[in-house]
Parts: sequence; structure tokens; C-alpha cells
Amino acid sequence: MKKHKKVYVYQGFERFWHWNQALLIFILAITGFEIHSSYKLLGFETAVEIHNKAAWGFIILIIFAIFWHFTTGEWKQYIPTTKNLMAQAQFYLLGIFKNAPHPTQKTLLSKLNPLQRLVYLGLKLLVIPVMVISGLLFMFYRYPHGTQIEMINIDNLEIIALIHTAGAFAVMAFVLVHLYLITTGHTITSNLKAMITGWEDLDGVETDENDNDDQQTKTTGNGSE
Ligand code: HEM
Repeated sequence: MKKHKKVYVYQGFERFWHWNQALLIFILAITGFEIHSSYKLLGFETAVEIHNKAAWGFIILIIFAIFWHFTTGEWKQYIPTTKNLMAQAQFYLLGIFKNAPHPTQKTLLSKLNPLQRLVYLGLKLLVIPVMVISGLLFMFYRYPHGTQIEMINIDNLEIIALIHTAGAFAVMAFVLVHLYLITTGHTITSNLKAMITGWEDLDGVETDENDNDDQQTKTTGNGSE
């Protein structure tokens, strides 16, 4: 029968990766837009130094995250689907304001709704690689081989700066929407709590007739069915 059930949705590494990524993106954005001359906060030199260090931290975290996604099978969470895609878009545009039910049920094997799958996949396959590659070109154009411009064949930094800044705006747009969507779970804080503790109350989880309502399910290797 279908019941509410406390489920261990986000594993330890997943939460570690998520929060460190959030912190690093925050640091990269604050320092990046100072480098871009949007404001003055730390001073240009310090902003560049911190941006470079955070960028290396981000790259190392990405390498571990890729390893984790493939060894656990969690990469399958991002396989795009058109099933419920329109319903999900309609929910965010209209239904959510009329207290309509969520069109997609979160389960251990499918934690992301079809819109999230698309957006996260785009972020992982397009926006983040563009940021990393343009950032590294930026770095190695100037640091530490300032005289070896010919080697990577970059005539000037303008196009790289433009691509990197456009990517930064895309990341910022994602962060804004993401912060809003955090509040759209079953309760205003349920998504946030789940990413902090790992545990979330999931609806309609198939349970054994003899199960208790407050039963907890801890599963590892979710998605690696
Ligand atoms: C691993 C990823 C990243 C690397 C390797 C990287 C590297 C760099 C480098 C080397 C610079 C140039 C610093 C200078 O002028 O001396 C730069 C600039 C900048 N970065 Fe990043 N960055 C990365 C990620 C990010 C992220 C995630 C954001 C924002 C969310 C961001 C925003 C910016 C901005 C706005 C600039 C200024 C661009 C300009 O106006 O010329 N970066 N980045």
C-alpha cells in the first residue's frame, strides 16, 4: 500500500559535493564579478587570487563528483525524459499557485523531475564545461605562461572573457531559480532539510502492508538498479 515514508535520499558524498559546490560557486561568483569590475570588494589582485584557488577546488570537486556519479550509477538520474515534462512546466507556471499536486513523484530511482533532469544535464554537459575550459584558457593565457600566447593560439582574451562572463550569468540565473525551487517541496523547508540531513518524507512509496507509517528506509547505491 502507499504511505509516507522517511527515505534516505541523498548520500553523504552527494551532500558533501552539493554544499561544497554551492560554496565554491558563491566564492567564484563574488570574486568573478569583482574581476569583471561590477563592484569593488576585496581588491582586484585578491579577487583574482581567490578566484583561481576556488577554481582549482571546483575542478578537483568535479573530478570526484564524476567518479562518484559513475561508480554509483547516479548519472542515470540525469537521463532526459519528455514524460511529464509539459505537466511539470505547467505546474511551475500555474499549478503551484493553486496548490495543485506535484505532477512528478520523487523516488529513490528518480529524484529529479523532468525539468530538473534537463536543466541539470545542460549545466553538467554545457555550462560547467564551458566555465572550466574558458576559465583554464583564461588562466593559462596569463598564468603562469604569460609569454606563451602562441602555444594556445589565442589572439586576445576578449572572446574568452565574453564566453566566461556569459557562462557566469547562466550560472547566476540557475542559482536564482534553484533558490526559489528549494522552497517548492512538500513544505517550504523539506527540500533544504533533505539536502542537509539526507532524509526526506516521500509520498506514495510502495511499502509492505506490515510496515509502520513512521518507518525509515536507508538505501545505498540508489539509481544503480
Ligand atoms: C573552474 C572554473 C573556473 C575557472 C578555471 C575560472 C577562471 C577564471 C580566470 C582565470 C579569470 C580571469 C582572472 C583575471 O582576469 O586575471 C576569471 C574571470 C571571471 N570568472 Fe571565472 N573561473 C571559473 C569559474 C567561474 C564561475 C563558476 C563564475 C561565476 C559564477 C566565474 C565568473 C567569472 C567572472 C565574471 C570573471 C570576469 C570575466 C571578465 O570580465 O573578464 N568563474 N575566471
